[in-house]
Amino acid sequence: MKQRILTGITTSGTPHLGNYAGAIRPAIKNSNLSNIESFFFLADYHALVKCQDANRIHQSCLQLAATWLASGLNPEKVIFYRQSDVIEITELSWILTCVTNKGLMNRAHAYKSLIDQNILNGLDKDYGINMGLYNYPILMAADILLFKANRIPVGRDQLQHIEIARDIAIKFNNIYEVNYFVLPEAYISKDVEILPGLDGRKMSKSYNNTIPLFECNSKDLYKYIMSIVTDSSKPGEYKESKNSIIYLLYKAFSNHEDSSQFYKDLNQGMSWKEAKLSLFNLINREIEPMREKYIELISKPSFLKEILLNGAKKAKIIAQKNINQVKEIIGINDF
Ligand code: TRP
Repeated sequence: MKQRILTGITTSGTPHLGNYAGAIRPAIKNSNLSNIESFFFLADYHALVKCQDANRIHQSCLQLAATWLASGLNPEKVIFYRQSDVIEITELSWILTCVTNKGLMNRAHAYKSLIDQNILNGLDKDYGINMGLYNYPILMAADILLFKANRIPVGRDQLQHIEIARDIAIKFNNIYEVNYFVLPEAYISKDVEILPGLDGRKMSKSYNNTIPLFECNSKDLYKYIMSIVTDSSKPGEYKESKNSIIYLLYKAFSNHEDSSQFYKDLNQGMSWKEAKLSLFNLINREIEPMREKYIELISKPSFLKEILLNGAKKAKIIAQKNINQVKEIIGINDF
């Protein structure tokens, strides 16, 4: 039996280098393995929870679709779709809402930390929290359970959501005395790259320290890299390279041999300027052909739409079959 791998990408931002090295590149690499069936989707309904800027949602969807395709995702091998195009997901979400204990949602970290923040700021504890945010884990469980996915590659911050999806699956199976939903497992790759951003903290939109992936020409990429913070050691001086941003970024884009050489060169006094130039060349070499592809794709929204609709068509074959079975189980079926 093929392993079914499924992962969603929230469509609220513009992909950066950290997303590429940490999620996009490894996911695409894995999707080429033969014993695996991959489902990648744009989680646009999840994005609504935190972004109500219609233009942003729309642009982000296009950018993400173009990014994944330009990065090498093969839509013949991977079922690639937009969450909102597979309405069975939201249908299942309601059904799952009705088997989920409110207490389970109360314990979700993302929700809890907002409450804590509100209390800290002297506000009403539910200030600014919409029901979408509260129910976020249920929609995510529907994404996963509808396709009976086995493995869910996610970052550590999403671990609890997978636990919740398992809890909901167990609850459903128990209530209806069936063995219907497959219990998904989180998959956290050991060697996933967490890239440092311009200031050395984890590269993240919320820290405003990112380097855009494709929405950035080579000149801008050069400027970004030149602006990375380094220590004050001078050309010719030994450099503490192990934890330097420049070395860590270099490592994420090169093989072991090249990164060890780079490490040695830094220790032996290569200037930060020279190091940054090497880093720029290294990253740009990998990104440039994909960037060209990206620019071509982003200018053809109808082509992107067709690819996503095609993916949705494939997803819906499974989704419809499964939602009908679920409805049969819960008693919402034909007379
Ligand atoms: N919540 C995930 C994130 O923010 C995105 C997501 C939505 C997802 N549905 C999913 C990930 C289903 C894995 C499986 O990263």
